[in-house]
Amino acid sequence: MAEHPFALTEDSFPDFRADDVLVKPASEAWEKAEYFALRRRVFSEEQQLLPQDKDEHDFQAIPIVALACQCGMPNAVVGAVRIYQPQPGLWYGGRLCVAAEYRRHGMIGTALINEAVSRARDIGCERFLATVQLCNEDYFQRLHWRTLEHIELLDQIHAVMQVDLEHYPFMPREISLLPLRARRHG
Ligand SMILES: CC(C)(COP(=O)(O)OP(=O)(O)OC[C@H]1O[C@@H](n2cnc3c(N)ncnc32)[C@H](O)[C@@H]1OP(=O)(O)O)[C@@H](O)C(=O)NCCC(=O)NCCS
Repeated sequence: MAEHPFALTEDSFPDFRADDVLVKPASEAWEKAEYFALRRRVFSEEQQLLPQDKDEHDFQAIPIVALACQCGMPNAVVGAVRIYQPQPGLWYGGRLCVAAEYRRHGMIGTALINEAVSRARDIGCERFLATVQLCNEDYFQRLHWRTLEHIELLDQIHAVMQVDLEHYPFMPREISLLPLRARRHG
């Protein structure tokens, strides 16, 4: 996270990060535009995995966003995930990302996974899978996912993981994460 010097002292201050974050399906045009922009920043520019991270699944996928709010008004997309159904009952989640400056800021990725799986469950999901980068396998395991197999994708080992739907939702949905963080971290 960037540090900025004060003009008159030796001290510095970090970038502003909103504490009030809300996770929900993207509905407004600006939310959808920023959802794709964040995915591009993370997967094309930062991780250099895909020159173009949009694919055919985006035609039917439900985009879910984490919105940073100021004075209760959402004004920036700081997290994203998509869910889609390739076969009846079978859902996939993917393109999970949190803006670099908002990572480990307080359960944004966790809340995106909670919303993604719970929403699919609401609309008939019987099996929910994701192909997860190896560095995130433990993170998903802690959120009630188990590994089915390891595969190579884009020259990297990935875990194909399945969620235990019975545990979802494991946290409240579509409310500000602020009180939840306060309760967890004191
Ligand atoms: C993976 C990612 C979505 C996690 O989002 P996040 O908002 O930072 O994670 P959370 O705040 O929900 O993390 C919850 C807890 O898990 C831990 N955690 C987060 N990422 C982790 C990881 N990759 N491995 C192990 N633990 C992790 C956090 O430390 C946190 O614990 P704490 O509350 O005790 O500090 C985010 O790091 C990201 O966008 N990474 C780049 C894109 C990416 O790799 N996407 C996943 C593709 S499979």
